[in-house]
Amino acid sequence: MLSWDEFDTEEETVAKPAAAKAATSAAADKLDNAAEAAVHDARAVSADDSAAVARAKAALDQLDIAEGLAELEGEGARVTVDAKRMINCRADLNQLVPFKYDWAWQKYLDGCANHWMPQEVNMNADIALWKSQDGLTEDERRIVMRNLGFFSTADSLVANNLALAVYRLITNPECRQYILRQAFEEAIHTHAYQYCIESLGMDEGEIFNMYHEVPSVAKKAAWGLKYTRAISDPEFDTGTVETDKELLRNLIAYYCVLEGIFFYCGFTQILSMGRRNKMTGVAEQFQYILRDESMHLNFGIDVINQIKIENPHLWDAELKDEATQMILQGTQLEIEYARDTMPRGVLGMNAAMMEDYLKFIANRRLTQIGLKEEYPGTTNPFPWMSEIMDLKKEKNFFETRVTEYQTGGALAWD
Ligand SMILES: [Fe+2]
Ligand SMILES: [Fe+2]
Repeated sequence: MLSWDEFDTEEETVAKPAAAKAATSAAADKLDNAAEAAVHDARAVSADDSAAVARAKAALDQLDIAEGLAELEGEGARVTVDAKRMINCRADLNQLVPFKYDWAWQKYLDGCANHWMPQEVNMNADIALWKSQDGLTEDERRIVMRNLGFFSTADSLVANNLALAVYRLITNPECRQYILRQAFEEAIHTHAYQYCIESLGMDEGEIFNMYHEVPSVAKKAAWGLKYTRAISDPEFDTGTVETDKELLRNLIAYYCVLEGIFFYCGFTQILSMGRRNKMTGVAEQFQYILRDESMHLNFGIDVINQIKIENPHLWDAELKDEATQMILQGTQLEIEYARDTMPRGVLGMNAAMMEDYLKFIANRRLTQIGLKEEYPGTTNPFPWMSEIMDLKKEKNFFETRVTEYQTGGALAWD
């Protein structure tokens, strides 16, 4: 193992006499000249060089550094915090620091601390239960099938929206760092569903194509995709009121509705199954995913609120009404999904209880982005869900102004 103690740094740390200080910049100039000379030596064509190597060296002599860097955002200056913006930023996006949005960097660190892989979860008990004749009721099997069907493609929709649409339009490097982490987590989630489907020996085609074949799943996917279409066009760019609003609509659709509402019926059903000691491997995978998703959701809400602060003219009565409508439409689609997946009471819950829960969640999504509750007086029929999520983690920057939680590796059911 390497240790810095092995290096004798005494000579370096001796205080320099004042006279030597002036010589430092002259020495730096000399170093630049020496480095330039070394580059020329290294690039000189020698007799040993093949024609290909000689061509490569000659091509580098033509490299124009100023022209190569000219396409980058910014003016080649060092970045200051004041120059950073969530959208339409002109500062260099390749310089991560100084941070402006510490909460985004903290979420990146927390996401990395929560790293997990699907193969770490033992699926043996699930396989035995799924294959036994009287292990699960038909209603319970339907819940497992439908949720694997919905989620196996939903996380791909989210990942594609991030990578193909959102990433380039969010012009802040610490937020992009988190978006890259989130995109990898979405890949892990799709992997987790694939791992469950393969472990249980399900018909892969039936599950993965469910978003074309089962209306309650298809409607949710179609609703989300509608908001990706406009901004994933390579010609699309922010910078006008209309296009900036279009990006906000996309962020509300994906963070508040897809990740913030569409996942909640399925998460509740599968976690309820785990609490009853059924399909505990699948439930553990979902619990890890839910932990990631609550951070995705809170990151998205922080981004939306920050864009509103920096661009108050976008958040007008028209967009507020549209955002409310989007959240209400999403809630309605999730209520329909709850009815489809639970035609009767199952696992200590039913569609009516889920409807209350979804309205409770919808109120929360509305208030998180500064809108008023549309289902006043609704209470949470599943308080255990909040316990599993850990309410401390559910808070976002704009509610707490502190990053108060520590991430932990292990999960516990109670
Ligand atoms: Fe996900
Ligand atoms: Fe997510």
